[in-house]
Amino acid sequence: MNAPIGIFDSGIGGLTVAHAIAQLLPNEQIIYFGDTAHLPYGDKSADAIQHYSAKITDFLLQRNCKIIVIACNTASSVAFRMLKNYLADKTPIINVIEPVVRAVVNSHFKHVGVIATKRTIQTNIYPATLNYLQPDLQISALATHAFVTLIEENVHKNKKVLDALIEHYLSNPDFDNIEALILGCTHYPIIKHDIERFFEQHRSNAKAPKIFDSIETVALRVKEVLTERNLLNTETSNTPPIHHFYVSDYTQAFEQTTETFFGQKIRLEHFPIWEMPILDN
Ligand code: DGL
Repeated sequence: MNAPIGIFDSGIGGLTVAHAIAQLLPNEQIIYFGDTAHLPYGDKSADAIQHYSAKITDFLLQRNCKIIVIACNTASSVAFRMLKNYLADKTPIINVIEPVVRAVVNSHFKHVGVIATKRTIQTNIYPATLNYLQPDLQISALATHAFVTLIEENVHKNKKVLDALIEHYLSNPDFDNIEALILGCTHYPIIKHDIERFFEQHRSNAKAPKIFDSIETVALRVKEVLTERNLLNTETSNTPPIHHFYVSDYTQAFEQTTETFFGQKIRLEHFPIWEMPILDN
C-alpha cells in the first residue's frame, strides 16, 4: 500500500527510530512529527503527554498514514494504551517499549538494567512489562535524564564529559551484576558504544552486559505488522520516497542536530500544530 508510515516523538531524538525504519524499509515514505514545542516529554505530566500524543496522531492520520509509530519511550509509556483504544484497530500502532522487552525476555536473563528519562522510570513500565512476561526477572531501573541534555547540546562529543557522566550513572552498585541493559530512551543509541566500552573496561573479570536499544527491534516490528496486514508498499520506483519531517517549533539548532540522530542533515518543516485555528474544513 502506497501510504506513509507516521512516526512521532517529543522532538528529534525519535529520528533514531525513523532512521532505522528508513534503512530497513527503503521503499516506504515516512512522515515524522517532532513536538519540539513541548520538548522534553520526560518531565511533563502523563495528562499533558496524552493530550499532545492524541493531537499529533490526528495530524498523522490526516496525512493518510497507514501505521503509527510512537518513537518516544516517555509517550509510549503513558499514551500507548489510550491511542490504541482511540484507533480501535483501524490503524495499527506500535510503541518503542514492547519490541525490546520481548527481545530481552526471549534471551532468558536473570538480571537486567534499564535506563530512561525520569517520567519513563516513574511509570514503572519497563519492570511491569518485563515481569509480566518473565516474573522471576530481577530488574534495576535508573533515571539518567542528563544524557538527553548532553546529547541534545552535542556535548556527548566531548568524550571526557560523556565518560564521566556514564561513570556517574552506571557505576551504580545495582548494575554490578546485570547481564543486559535496556537503553529506554530515543537518544541513548547515540552513546551505545560508549556505554559498551564503559562496561568492558569495568568488568575485566566478568562478561559485559548485552546492550539492547529499541530502534532495530522497532523497525523489525513495523515491517512485521505491515507484512501481516498486507500494507507494505509493493510499488517499485527508481526514485527514493520523499520523507517529511515536521516540527511544532523550528530553530536552526534543531535542524543542525538532525545529523546526530538521522545520520545526515535533513530539512525540518515547521508545522505550528498548537497554534492552528479551529475551522471545520
Ligand atoms: N524521546 C524521549 C524518550 O524517548 C526523550 C526526550 C524527552 O524527554 O522528551 O523518552
